[in-house]
Amino acid sequence: MSTSGFPASPGDLPYTPAVAAAAAAAYEKVKSVIPAVEWPVHAPYVAAIQELKKKRNAVVLAHNYQTPEIFHGVADIVGDSLALAREAAKTTADVIVLAGVHFMAETAKILNPGKTVLIPDPAAGCSLADSITAEDVRRLREKHPGVPVVTYVNTSAEVKAESDVCCTSGNAVEVVESLGVPRVIFLPDEYLGRYVASQTKVEIVLWQGHCEVHERFTGREVRSLRETHPGVVVIAHPECPPDVLAEADYVGSTAGMARHVRERRPARVAMITECSMSDNLAAEFPEVSFVRPCNLCPHMKRITLPKIYEALRDLKFEVRVDPEVARRAQKAVERMLAVRATSAR
Ligand code: 13P
Ligand code: SF4
Repeated sequence: MSTSGFPASPGDLPYTPAVAAAAAAAYEKVKSVIPAVEWPVHAPYVAAIQELKKKRNAVVLAHNYQTPEIFHGVADIVGDSLALAREAAKTTADVIVLAGVHFMAETAKILNPGKTVLIPDPAAGCSLADSITAEDVRRLREKHPGVPVVTYVNTSAEVKAESDVCCTSGNAVEVVESLGVPRVIFLPDEYLGRYVASQTKVEIVLWQGHCEVHERFTGREVRSLRETHPGVVVIAHPECPPDVLAEADYVGSTAGMARHVRERRPARVAMITECSMSDNLAAEFPEVSFVRPCNLCPHMKRITLPKIYEALRDLKFEVRVDPEVARRAQKAVERMLAVRATSAR
């Protein structure tokens, strides 16, 4: 404890009465999930990031898997990959900080070639994005001539550039059906592709990519969860294996999962996805009981408040995409954004 009565911050920035006051509104939002003794670690960064955002005319876009002190503390816009892409396309800010993984920042850059797009940790990757290359897509096209390529946004700009249209977990079925063809190549998530195939008559050619976080869940785990917690509502992300999805009460994107909780307010719910999803919703709905299991995404967890602070302070790490690759990738992303979702997934 310092002589001022305020505990010293374990981070680089001091925790002072002015910081406590500046971060008080943020703490109100997270007090049910972040203990008061932990807040002095986060508050100096929350206050400093709020200041830097004004100075830089910057916005922080945060994915639903970001930790509560980021999601509720410093983000201007939160959501699933689709919402982040839509909002990135609309923003008037000069600087976009993407609190999420690299492909999300790249998508923001593709949609805003003239803006500064920052990723607080460039090593925040994704096992799905790593599962396929542009060369793989060209080979698939040779193998299936004339069949259009629908690419999940969890891919590199180079892979997007080889695609006809992108999709997210929130609009994949609508995007596939929008093409009006009997058969599509769907990349790279096998389980999302299988889920789409279960929802449409369009034939889906699959790739063998998997999300390292969602592929670890099993149907057996969900069944035993139901035995231990009778009446629990099970909500799963479509990157989970088919035996998990078969056990779920609701399947949808992270935005769809949040909407389901917001609208139905189940007494007890299990979110079969990344752990921060439950933490962020628990902060918003303390009356809902969230049953774990959940798995952590090591890439999403690379993003921290100190790294967001440094990103804004030093304007690093700037995301750059080769202009010709960006031009071709932009066509595929914008074609996706033009597809109107007919159902809320
Ligand atoms: P959403 O688009 O549903 O948020 O999913 C992104 C992601 O990375 C899930 O693992
Ligand atoms: Fe990629 Fe899975 Fe992490 Fe999402 S949760 S960023 S799909 S590894």
